[in-house]
Amino acid sequence: MEKIVINGGNPLFGQVEISGSKNAALPIIYASVLVKGKCVLENIPDVSDIRTSFEILRGIGAKIRMLARNTWEINCTDVICGESDYELVRSIRGSYYLLGSEFGRFGHAKVGLPGGCNFGVRPIDQHIKGFEALGGRVSTEGGYVEIESEGAVGANIFFDLSSVGATLNVMIAAATADGVTVIDNAAREPHVVDCANFLNTCGAQISGAGSDVIKIKGVKELHGCTYAIIPDMIEAGSFMVATVATRGSVKITNVIPKHLESVTAKLIEIGADVEEFDDAVMVTSGEHIRRTSVKTLPYPGFPTDMHPQMAALLCTAEGTSYINESIFENRFRYVEELRRMGAKIKVDGRIVVIEGGTPLTAAPVIATDLRGGVAVMIAALTCPGTTEIGQIRLIERGYDDICAKLRSLGADIKKITVPDEIPFPQAN
Ligand code: EPU
Repeated sequence: MEKIVINGGNPLFGQVEISGSKNAALPIIYASVLVKGKCVLENIPDVSDIRTSFEILRGIGAKIRMLARNTWEINCTDVICGESDYELVRSIRGSYYLLGSEFGRFGHAKVGLPGGCNFGVRPIDQHIKGFEALGGRVSTEGGYVEIESEGAVGANIFFDLSSVGATLNVMIAAATADGVTVIDNAAREPHVVDCANFLNTCGAQISGAGSDVIKIKGVKELHGCTYAIIPDMIEAGSFMVATVATRGSVKITNVIPKHLESVTAKLIEIGADVEEFDDAVMVTSGEHIRRTSVKTLPYPGFPTDMHPQMAALLCTAEGTSYINESIFENRFRYVEELRRMGAKIKVDGRIVVIEGGTPLTAAPVIATDLRGGVAVMIAALTCPGTTEIGQIRLIERGYDDICAKLRSLGADIKKITVPDEIPFPQAN
């Protein structure tokens, strides 16, 4: 088992390059199942959720090979429907995109229910509603979702809520459906736009991605292409927040500043300086960081995926801050870990209340989930002493080489290998 060890207290300084977006790369990788031919995907982050996805696709017959560190060729010409590995599928969330791509390509699909970070109940009813509208007969039994049909057909779909996963899944299935699909109340996240751009580069006819109405004219076939994934806005936001938390100054490159606007606005509001360039942002902390209130919202609002990192930063701010988590019912497991580090932080319903200004102290903690793990890393970077972080595989699901990147900014951070923990004997 590996742990991350941080000797905190050093402000971050220098320049760091952001990797490709995990949450854009995942749907694009699964969407390539629709393509008979080779897709060359550039700017793919080296993270475990992507490696797991490659294993899932190889298991159904995809030929996948690395052309350079972040460039992969995927050839799904010979994939077989319904044969994906149950355990691999349930180990990540993004595997649910295989439903949309198998349904779109074969007219039927059989995929295990997805896993992913534990934020309480994460239903997929909107995905199912979309597949049913496209003519699928959907059943969930024995841990699998199965879709049967005579082929996906275009339809009008109005989602009950803004769902990134449901929007992408239905868009993927509809790309090769018979007829026109209109998705209303679609998610507007940049990764939805990125997947639409990828599919269009393969010959799809999708318009409106990035707005709340997406129109998809189904095409008979998609062809291979070369496509570069957008930069990861959450990785970039995490480095921006870590810079301010440690009172440092960092130029963050390979970003799309527009995607970072909600984070940039909050950082400026609390006393940091953010300078925007064409494909970079320069973040410099102010001496005094002030309290604020944050509400997580669908894009272009403040991302739920930046909530735990922002909470860690606000532990270092002056005054009492509030974070209202409006997307996930229980994205608060990191709070307990920050409390171990001396943070005055509590959860009241869906609101996190943070009394800032109390210095944090090093403690043994764990990554409770992907972003919660990075929140404790940020907390550890701010305080003197040695913090050991366990369960770091959860961080490595979505951050490409995070220790090396932080080290290059002056952080005293390393990974160590420790013997696997022996479970406590259970009382009968
Ligand atoms: N929801 C439903 N029914 C559905 C789908 C969603 O009720 O059928 C609810 C969810 O429970 C949640 C809200 O709608 O309350 C939004 O969920 P959404 O579908 O947008 O989230 P997701 O597709 O499960 C993706 C990302 C998450 C990110 C969210 C929100 C991937 C693989 N996952 O999840 O990423 O938090 O969108 O932006 O893209 C992460 O990267 O750390 C992460 C958790």
